[in-house]
Amino acid sequence: MIIVMKNENAAQNLAKALDTHNPIKPVFVHQNRIGLAGVKQIDDAQLADFKDDVVEVITNHHGAIKSSRDFHPEDTIIKTKHSIIGGDHFVFMAGPDSIESAEHVLEMGKDVQLAGATILRGGAFKPRTSPYSFQGNGEDGLKAHRQAADTLQMDMVTEILDTRDVDLVDQYTDIFQVGTRNMQNFALLKALGQKNKPVVLKRGMSATIDDLLNAAEYIAAGGNDQIILMERGIRTFDNKYTRNTMDVSAIPVLKSLTHYPVIADSSHAAGVSKFVEPIGLAAVAAGAQGLMTEIHDHPKEAFVDGAQALTPEQFKQLADKVRRVRTAIQ
Ligand code: E4P
Ligand code: PEP
Repeated sequence: MIIVMKNENAAQNLAKALDTHNPIKPVFVHQNRIGLAGVKQIDDAQLADFKDDVVEVITNHHGAIKSSRDFHPEDTIIKTKHSIIGGDHFVFMAGPDSIESAEHVLEMGKDVQLAGATILRGGAFKPRTSPYSFQGNGEDGLKAHRQAADTLQMDMVTEILDTRDVDLVDQYTDIFQVGTRNMQNFALLKALGQKNKPVVLKRGMSATIDDLLNAAEYIAAGGNDQIILMERGIRTFDNKYTRNTMDVSAIPVLKSLTHYPVIADSSHAAGVSKFVEPIGLAAVAAGAQGLMTEIHDHPKEAFVDGAQALTPEQFKQLADKVRRVRTAIQ
């Protein structure tokens, strides 16, 4: 809930009083606005002494106060060793879907770096629909990924599936990735809130924008505000020709609601390689501050998601077009 007051002074006074009334609920103040995290309604009696100073009580706010632009108007910019994410910067995260071998991830890393990527992606722990599908190479995959990223002087981003692996993955990665299936794994989000490391949070395939913001809030509430939100396509009534539907509208909406960088993954949205480029360009035109893209030199032999993998050459073409779209919209 947000309470808009006449001025900053009035906001500070009411916030102090509310803090005493609601000791467990965090109260945030920015200029003349008070954010009551986790509160959906308020007893009129609590406002009685201040009612002449209350301009508006907004009850339909998403409630993710720390993540909200209302309380943090400037863009969050995240700096890693080799990348700047957010604001006017654009970042390419690319690489294979899964880490197949040390040689392969290094080769794929060289290709994506040549095209402009500074972050090498790849999964060592894979969230598969079927328990019989390839589940990832685990710690061996993390080691190979780290080695490739170090050799190429790139950042590493990899998915974390389980709270029990947080410290292990933390030893290797520069950026954690929480996948669509884990967006509301609150234990995992809380654990990542305790880390001082960026987290890419992918939108759940059936999650609303408010769900995504509140998932981010779990990480922020723990003290980690290095959050990157990612639109990767949602389930809709028509996912016959694409694997998911890229919710392009979510990109400007999220950018208006939150200060975190908003990036997009058109590989998982498209599900088929021929649509990865146009959908990615649409996301960039809508304001995405980065793209995550899957590549493979022999897509038909990929361990996971070969159908949506771009070849290195196709990725280079996509990256060139992204730069042109960015110039056009600037
Ligand atoms: C890869 O990135 C995911 O693990 C993959 O999309 C899971 O989907 P599947 O197991 O249904 O192939
Ligand atoms: C991935 O990027 O490897 C992945 C599993 O993506 P998503 O969570 O979007 O399905």
